[in-house]
Order: sequence, then structure tokens, then C-alpha cells
Amino acid sequence: MKALVLSGGMGTRLRPLTHSMAKQLVPVANKPVLVHCLENIRDIGVTEVGIVVGDHAEEIATEIGDGSDLGLRITYLRQEAPLGLGHCVVIAREFLGDEDFVMYLGDNVLAEGIAEAADAFATRRPAAQVVVTKVLDPRQYGVAEVGEDQVVRALVEKPRRPRSDLAVIGVYFFTARIHDAVRAVPPSARGELEITDAIQHLVDQGRTVTAVEHSGYWQDTGRTDGLLECNRVLLDRVETAVRGQVDQDSVLDGPVVVEHGATVVRSRLTGPLVVGSGAVVQDSRIGPHTSLGANCTVNGSDVEDSILLRGAVLDGVGPVRASLLGRGSQVTSPPGTRAHQLVVGDDCRAVVA
Ligand code: DAU
Repeated sequence: MKALVLSGGMGTRLRPLTHSMAKQLVPVANKPVLVHCLENIRDIGVTEVGIVVGDHAEEIATEIGDGSDLGLRITYLRQEAPLGLGHCVVIAREFLGDEDFVMYLGDNVLAEGIAEAADAFATRRPAAQVVVTKVLDPRQYGVAEVGEDQVVRALVEKPRRPRSDLAVIGVYFFTARIHDAVRAVPPSARGELEITDAIQHLVDQGRTVTAVEHSGYWQDTGRTDGLLECNRVLLDRVETAVRGQVDQDSVLDGPVVVEHGATVVRSRLTGPLVVGSGAVVQDSRIGPHTSLGANCTVNGSDVEDSILLRGAVLDGVGPVRASLLGRGSQVTSPPGTRAHQLVVGDDCRAVVA
């Protein structure tokens, strides 16, 4: 079995972060979403991975490399424009050959991995298998109607009037039958070649398509609130590991990770949280549920339930809650400051107390 990971697309819902970076590289619990996804693929024993990339091709290749660190062999497949999930299968035809493959949307996080779904596909080996979960508002997702014996009767992409509450999660298992199906369907009203339409085509042709219900935590991280929730859930799974320097005047409480080269001075760290390599924390209160990226500086501040990307600076500010700071961004409040002074880039949001 091979894997096809989709890491192209636009990431408009995560602006402004995604003006300058791929949404699949945004970190949760200090690891890019895409790395969580590649680890899940490795954990089911798949090593040949094709990653579909778009405008952020270079940045993704620099961050992920050839996959050898993760025990994978990665091939990058360039998609000229985000023409749909079905289009990704079309351009990966040669890479995939006639092998079965798992297709994984690079912005989806499944905290407990994909082993159960992989086992179900290997045991039953339908033409295609989707993974579904119950959601409150299915209109934002692909929606599956599932009959007896887990057989899919119909699949509709983002229906206005959903006929079930089962959303399609971004992990699909395919046999080579999908290749004819993606070529048989026309682009949708939004101009994309939809994978849901291609799977529906298999159903219409009488092929068996099954649905496996996912019981663990799942998040489509394409939105800010989803990202923070995902960060909380993944941090809840970390165990204490102090590899950097923590001085005697600091107090650590709960699961706390302090990476190599990080320094913590006169601060209170309430886990779960992660302090990235080379970060400096001084006279501050951090956590719970906070990820500080590599080389961040937090001084005289109070931050909880937040993600700071690498090189971000918080100085003399707090309380900071449910916040996302982009790479190299700075939020400071030098002594004597009497008014808010803001340099806010395109599509940024600031809520000032
Ligand atoms: O998250 C689950 C949902 O993902 C499913 O319920 C939907 O059926 C499925 O269509 C998809 O919907 P989204 O609107 O969330 O898809 P999005 O445009 O965010 O793309 C998903 C991933 O695929 C993302 O990592 C970007 C990548 N992508 C997307 C397109 C359209 C590509 O690599 N190329 C593309 O052409």
C-alpha cells in the first residue's frame, strides 16, 4: 500500500498565518499538522508517500525533506492549481500505479491514528472505504448515507440539506478502481474535481464502498478555533521531559516539555505545555495548554491556551488567552506605555482588553 497526502490548496480560513505559510505546516503541540499525519501513515507500516503540493511546494519540501527522519520515502507531486481532491488522484496516477493507497488530507488530525480503519480496509477490501464521524453541522463536510453492513449508499459534498449526520473525515482507502472514477466525473459547481463525486460514481457502478466510524479525536485544523482545540487535545497526551535549563526559582506543575537549548527563569509553568528548543521564558506564567515554538521569547507575561510560532515574542503582556502568534511576531508592552500601538498586517485580528 502507498499513501497520498494532500498538502496543496489555499488555506484561506487560516489567514493571516497562511499568507506566508502552508496551513499544513502550522504547528499543534509544536509539530506541524503534516508531521502528525505522516507519523500516522508510518504507524500503519506504509513507507512510500506522495505529497501533493501547490504554491508552498518549496517550504513544505524544506520542512519535511525526503522523509528519512520519519522512516518514509517521500515523492513530491506538484499540482499547478487547487483543482480538487479528485484532481490530486489524477496527477498522482503514475506515482500510485495499480496499488491500493490511503489518501490523507494534510490538514486533518486524527489523534489516535488510523490503524483501526487500515485494518478494516485490509480485512474487507472494498473498492473504496471512507472514514466517518457524527458532527453537529454536516453541511461543511462530505456527508455519507450509510446502510446496513457499513455499506455507503450515497455521498454528497457539503449538502445544503444533509441526509445524515455522518461527515467524511479526511482519510480514504482506495483500490486502483478509483482511477477510472476520477476520470469519469465532471468538475462540480465550484469548479473542483470532487473525490466525493468519484466515490459516488463507484457506488453507482455497483462497487462496494464502505464507511468506518471513527471513534477517536478528529479535527480539520483549517480554522483558528479548531487549531487551538487540537493543540489542547494533543498537549493532553504529552509527558514531562525537561531537556533544557530550568532555574531553581521556577515551578513546574503538570506535564511540561522543555526542549533542548530552552531556558526557563523565575517562571511558573503549568502543564500540559511545550517550550520549544532555544526558547527563553523569564518572569512569566505559562500554561496550561500552551505551545511555545522554537526560539520564542516570553518575558514578564502570562499566557494560556495559545500557540506561539517560532521566534514569536511576548514581552510584558498578559493575560493572553486563546491566541495564535505567527512566526517572528512581537507583542510587547514596555514600561510607561499608555496607549495601544498596533502594526496589524492583512487579515489579522486583535482583541484588546
Ligand atoms: O476535512 C474533511 C473534509 O475535507 C471532507 O468532509 C470533505 O468531503 C472534503 O472535500 C474536504 O473538504 P475541505 O473543504 O475541508 O477541503 P480543503 O479544500 O480544505 O482541502 C483538504 C486538503 O487537501 C488540504 O490539505 C488542502 C488539500 N488540497 C485541496 C484541494 C482542493 C490539495 O492539495 N489540492 C486541492 O486541489
